[in-house]
Amino acid sequence: ERVKGLNGIDQIVLRNSQGALARVSLHGGQVISWQNDRGEELLFASSKANGKGPKAIRGGIPICFPQFGNCGSLEQHGFARNKIWTVDENPPSLPAKDSSGKSFIDLLLKPSEEDLKCWPHSFELRLRVCLGTDGNLTLISRVRNINAKPFSFSFAYHSYLSVSDISEVRVEGLETMDYLDNLCQKERFTEQGDAITFEAEFERVYISSPICVAVLDHERKRTYVLKKEGLPDVVVWNPWEKKSKSMADLGDDEYRQMVCVDGAVIEKPVTLKPGEEWMGRLEIIVVPSSFCSEN
Ligand code: BG6
Repeated sequence: ERVKGLNGIDQIVLRNSQGALARVSLHGGQVISWQNDRGEELLFASSKANGKGPKAIRGGIPICFPQFGNCGSLEQHGFARNKIWTVDENPPSLPAKDSSGKSFIDLLLKPSEEDLKCWPHSFELRLRVCLGTDGNLTLISRVRNINAKPFSFSFAYHSYLSVSDISEVRVEGLETMDYLDNLCQKERFTEQGDAITFEAEFERVYISSPICVAVLDHERKRTYVLKKEGLPDVVVWNPWEKKSKSMADLGDDEYRQMVCVDGAVIEKPVTLKPGEEWMGRLEIIVVPSSFCSEN
């Protein structure tokens, strides 16, 4: 189903037979809503993000490409999230697990003249968003180099998960991992504690993490399990009180209802030779309790 967003840009609504729903905007190829079969929203979206503006809304799952953060020469998190994507009518095929029996949409981003001025590499960025019969959300991105020379990029699914209260949240699966504590800093630290909990601003890139990371919300008795392929790193971010106040599109207390846990490739950027393709797949499953630790 194709509908108009408040900013005048089309959105695609995916539904499964159980009543779960995902809404994807052609603005940025961003998943802006994901609801389970009880109509509960699973992704955070700021109340200050009215969806009318030209900017990516603060919430959902913005795509960061071809740069993560602001350590490179491009705008923060790259330009892909601020561009208008098209529906890819004729996408190259994907394995059955990401097609048969699922509700999905394929989107495509190609660089404009303006993009090529700041990042002179011809590429095709494809995104398939799938809503499974079980309500799972899967995002599959493919980047193809259609340039005559190699290029490198970083990438992240900047996933804003909706939580009851940040003090109730634990992230499991990143124990003993190395991380970068400031995005542009090269110094590494090693995680010591059991699971990650939040008491202050938190902004880390965990390096070469396991394929499965769990975000447990004790109060809601809900666990998000993130399973990733082609995405070795995990970003964990919460702006906390002070930074939230400086962000115009985030309510002062809204940091409590969100945590970003991103499947990403940052520390060692991907390099593609002409004609090569990279794929990054993120599946988010919602279960009543911890999944990674029990399986
Ligand atoms: C996080 C970064 O991933 O994204 C933060 O670690 C940044 O530094 C945040 O503030 C949000 O970025 P933006 O550009 O959407 O405000």
